Amino acid sequence: MVMKTVTSLALLLLLFAVLAAGGGTKISRKLESSNHEDGICQLNVKTQGYSCEEHKVTTKDGFILSLQRIPTGRSGAGVTKGGPKAPVLLQHGLISDATTWLAMSPDESLGFILADNGFDVWLGNVRGTNYSSGHTSLGPSDPEYWDWSWDELVAYDLPAMFDYIHTQTGQKLHYVGHSLGTLMAFGAFSMHEALSQVRSAALLSPIAYLGQMPSPLARAAADIFTAEAIYWLGVKEFAPGGGPVSKLVADICSHIDCSNLENIITGPNCCMNSSTSSLTHQQPTATKNMIHLAQMIRKGTIKMYDYGSDRDNNKHYGQATPPDYNITSIPNDLPLFLSYGGKDLLSDVKDVQTLIGELSDHDPDKLVVQYRGDYAHLDFVYGVNAKQLVYSPLMAFFSSN
Ligand SMILES: *[C@@H]1O[C@H](CO)[C@@H](O)[C@H](O)[C@H]1NC(C)=O
Ligand SMILES: *[C@@H]1O[C@H](CO)[C@@H](O)[C@H](O)[C@H]1NC(C)=O
Ligand SMILES: *[C@@H]1O[C@H](CO)[C@@H](O)[C@H](O)[C@H]1NC(C)=O
Repeated sequence: MVMKTVTSLALLLLLFAVLAAGGGTKISRKLESSNHEDGICQLNVKTQGYSCEEHKVTTKDGFILSLQRIPTGRSGAGVTKGGPKAPVLLQHGLISDATTWLAMSPDESLGFILADNGFDVWLGNVRGTNYSSGHTSLGPSDPEYWDWSWDELVAYDLPAMFDYIHTQTGQKLHYVGHSLGTLMAFGAFSMHEALSQVRSAALLSPIAYLGQMPSPLARAAADIFTAEAIYWLGVKEFAPGGGPVSKLVADICSHIDCSNLENIITGPNCCMNSSTSSLTHQQPTATKNMIHLAQMIRKGTIKMYDYGSDRDNNKHYGQATPPDYNITSIPNDLPLFLSYGGKDLLSDVKDVQTLIGELSDHDPDKLVVQYRGDYAHLDFVYGVNAKQLVYSPLMAFFSSN
């Protein structure tokens, strides 16, 4: 029984906590960081010779999010003739932040590549991450601060960022999401959020369905997470490198080799530079968000968070089961670019095919689907050849929309 528990916890962590192994950084918990000297612009953008602006936007439920803007390319590169530049919002995935798009050299990182190619680049950071940890009345030590899942990223964070950028630029946006950043877009567009402000969307490692995820590890972990939901909900904050997560990871990593954890979870990434690691800049998320993802793995559906009983669901939704996100209701003329990998263990081929099936009525000339047989989950953001294989077609898609 004890052994079984240890194993379950191992599976749980293997799936979700790729990170804590390499983490351990104590995250600074200022209610609102007004000091831009230590922000992403200063640390990750200006150091590469780009201009950069820090922006703040407050969501309707009080979270204060940071956005970074790279308005021009290197030494004014990418200045377009006539017309205003098209804004692009880049939205990172789970347990990550905007540095996802800046992690490699300017010639390899999508954030810089888009700036050098004449786009007005905006980088989002979701609630709870280091640079978006502010709130109008709550702090990270309040349990209510962590009472959210990706439903709230769909309902509040994404619309707040779209509104803000649209107001600032007077332009409709292109959107790029990776992983959870794609789920945010699918959720929002299916609810007809932000549609009047979006020009097109590129979705890398698209996630809408998780029910066929092939990894037995992932499936077992999701079962355990659900079974131990009461305990984990008590934890509130799912913090890589902190508290319960890091102790468990330390235990597990004394039994197994964690050095390749990244590949065990995300798939055998073909094309990352060995000096690039996703283990830096690991960011906390809400435990409730992890449980919501586990529900999707178990049930294969894309629905709002399930409170577990008819009574509690009724209290939140006025119905006994959580409402669906209806992928088919995404407008057929919204330009979508999907790129998925044959080796991706999180955005697996079967689930992506289910997603594409739900989009079968989409206007054929408004849907580009790219399959990279050799790519796993992280190659889409850290692959040294992603510029040629993914970002060039992505930019051509933006330019044609
Ligand atoms: C890999 O990263 C190192 C260190 O940043 C860099 O010198 C090298 O050029 C990179 N290789 C490729 C193929 O991008
Ligand atoms: C959080 O932000 C501080 C500066 O505000 C920085 O020194 C630290 O490295 C950041 N931590 C992570 C995990 O990004
Ligand atoms: C989903 O949306 C499509 C298109 O609007 C509609 O035909 C279908 O009935 C919806 N499905 C559900 C379950 O609401």
